[in-house]
Amino acid sequence: MSSLASKSGPRYRHTAGEEEPYETLAVEKLTPIIGAEISGVDLGKLVSDDRSNRQMDEIHRALAENSVIFFRDQAITPQQHLAFGRKFGELHIHPAAPHEEGEPALMKIYADKNSPRANGEGWHTDVSCDVEPPMGSILYIKECPPRGGDTLFASMYAAYESLSDRMKAYLDGLTALHDGEMAYRGLYANYGVADKPNYPRAEHPVVRTHPVTGKKALYVNRGFTSHIVGIPRDESDAILSYLYQHCENPLFQCRFRWTQNAIAFWDYRCTQHRAMWDYWPHTRSGNRVTVKGERPM
Ligand code: SIN
Repeated sequence: MSSLASKSGPRYRHTAGEEEPYETLAVEKLTPIIGAEISGVDLGKLVSDDRSNRQMDEIHRALAENSVIFFRDQAITPQQHLAFGRKFGELHIHPAAPHEEGEPALMKIYADKNSPRANGEGWHTDVSCDVEPPMGSILYIKECPPRGGDTLFASMYAAYESLSDRMKAYLDGLTALHDGEMAYRGLYANYGVADKPNYPRAEHPVVRTHPVTGKKALYVNRGFTSHIVGIPRDESDAILSYLYQHCENPLFQCRFRWTQNAIAFWDYRCTQHRAMWDYWPHTRSGNRVTVKGERPM
């Protein structure tokens, strides 16, 4: 794990400006850097309101300011879950994972005592192998284990900002290949999902600029990034290995403890996440709805 301490105090100093108060939501930050729990909103009601809505604008703002937001005690139907996703854009269809019958945009998230693995056990950014990777995912967990099954999120803004100026200069202008093959082949065999002949691949900047906040974020991840383009492979391996370790510093993280009917909504353009499978033999289950994104810049 990289250390960000120096003789003159922490090398990384998070300097968020004073934020405007919210009018229609309560927003409780989990850490100064990433994550906030939102209360005072009924998402089932919100999605059936077609008018332009102040609360929806504030949810957009809370996501931009915190990178991942959480809601508790939301008894929503699958259709309301999909409708909430559509408020943020067109829905994304996963290139490999199993979904609910007749609803390709409603991905299954499930592990029980017979599962050989659970979703998202390593640090990653989902489907970064798409030419236009997703913007965000909305995960609704309906059945929780009695303890465990937390999800960890890490800020890729903080990871980028805390790099040395020399490393930032080195990474400037580099691109990396993200390869679905390395993540997906054979991954869903236990669900009876057959492999596809090909999986998506795409080249993206190693540092991207968020289209809403204008902030820079590191955009490489262990799940999908195979190599940095245009440098020798051993150099790419060494740089990626350093960057992955750096991204995993707990200073950049928050950890969400699920309760039944809670929702996490994260922005892929500035986060990575990792799910803990520490609850065997218990069951954890829910659905994920993912919103399409744009080509990283
Ligand atoms: C994932 O989307 O990678 C799974 C996250 C989770 O189950 O907490």
